[in-house]
Parts: sequence; C-alpha cells; structure tokens
Amino acid sequence: MSNSILIAENLSKHYFLGGQKVTVLKDISLAIGKGEFVVIAGSSGSGKTTLLSVLSGLDRPSSGKIILAGSDITNLTEDQLAPVRNDLTGFVFQAFHLIPSLNGIENIMFPAELKKDSDARNKAQTLLDQVGLVHRGNNFPEQLSGGEQQRVAICRALINNPEIVFADEPTGNLDSENSEGIIKILLDLHKDRQMTLVIATHSRSLASRADRIILLYDGRIQEGS
Ligand SMILES: Nc1ncnc2c1ncn2[C@@H]1O[C@H](COP(=O)(O)OP(=O)(O)O)[C@@H](O)[C@H]1O
Ligand SMILES: [Mg+2]
Repeated sequence: MSNSILIAENLSKHYFLGGQKVTVLKDISLAIGKGEFVVIAGSSGSGKTTLLSVLSGLDRPSSGKIILAGSDITNLTEDQLAPVRNDLTGFVFQAFHLIPSLNGIENIMFPAELKKDSDARNKAQTLLDQVGLVHRGNNFPEQLSGGEQQRVAICRALINNPEIVFADEPTGNLDSENSEGIIKILLDLHKDRQMTLVIATHSRSLASRADRIILLYDGRIQEGS
C-alpha cells in the first residue's frame, strides 16, 4: 500500500521461559493505511498485546522489520526510538496507566512537555473539553472513575497529534455505559480527524465499525493482513 503509515514485514517475537523458547508472534506481515481504522481481534493469548507493543515501538520484535511513517524503526536505539514514539504514536492501555502523582491536566501535558511544547497546557485543556471532562482537570487519577481515567488517557495519547493511535482493549476495564462513551470518542476521532486507529478489542460494537479486522490465532494472522 503506497499510503501506508505502518508496515510490518515478517515479524516474529519469542520469549525464553525456563530455558524454553516460546514464540508468540509468527511471521506477521501487514500494512496499515493512513486514516484506516483497524481492529485486532483474537482470543485471549493469541498475541494481540504483544503485536500492538511491537508495532508501536514499545517492545522489539525478535526478527522482522517495522516501517513507521516511512522510516525503518527496527534498529533504532531506545534513545533514538523514544522521541519517534512520542511524536508519531499515541498508546491507550486497558489499565489506563496514568501517573498517580500528576493530576489530569498534568498527565495529558506530559508527552508535550517532553518535547518542550510551550502550548502544552492549552492543548491539554482543549482535549479535556472535547472529552467532556474540563471540570476534572485538577483531579488526580485516584479521584476519577475508570471511564474518566480512560478519557484522560486518550487525551494524553492525542496531545502530540500523533500519526497513529494504538489502543489495547481500551474498554476492557469499564462497565458497558463507560465503554460506550469511550467507543464514541474513538469513533469520533476516526471520523472527525481521520485518525489512524489500531485497536485490540473484544467489543463487537467497535469491531463492527472498523474498516478492517485482523484476526490473530496463536500468534499468526488468520485473516485480514
Ligand atoms: N513477557 C512475556 N514472557 C513470556 N510470555 C509472554 C510474555 N508476554 C506475553 N507472553 C505470552 O505470549 C502469548 C500472547 O500474549 P498476549 O500478547 O498478551 O496475548 P493477548 O493480548 O491476545 O491476550 C501468551 O501465551 C502469553 O502468555
Ligand atoms: Mg492482551
């Protein structure tokens, strides 16, 4: 695909557990187009989290190649990779992973402050407003509900205006009402900003709206590459 924002070629990932080699990703090749909304589906243990981590540069493949926004990131050192990740990607985790000692606004600002963006606070306020949480910016994570924490985490993922947002079971820790709120925010992002989204999810509501579903089975792509 010529307008691909992300290309993976022959990725594999293995771990050594008690001297035993366990292969969790097997010969994964895929291309994700700019503006595409892709859902990664597959049963628990099929490799969704590992694949998202490797595609987003949070973790390294054991072999294979990853091209993000036209640059080969496979062999970058951690020091080289960190700013690329911070500029080009956003990541939303199932368990939110906000920094407990920072309030909502400060959590959202964090990735922008890493790149010395003097407009970080304004951008964070605007994003909080867009997710309907402007009144909660001074609250710390423990003072927010799960749904509110995830909305803050989505704002954090967006503050550097990334090329691609990854989300790993973003509604997995939420009740159905909060899940619907998060799903709506993600779908609006795709529609309004043409944001490229790669989401691992069990939510049928999300999957039914994806442009494409990539189905993993035992570390391999079974359908949708
Ligand atoms: N750090 C690790 N060390 C060893 N095995 C791992 C590690 N992380 C994941 N695995 C294994 O890789 C497989 C895929 O896990 P994961 O990517 O979390 O799947 P999913 O997100 O689809 O549930 C599982 O069998 C899991 O036990
Ligand atoms: Mg997982």
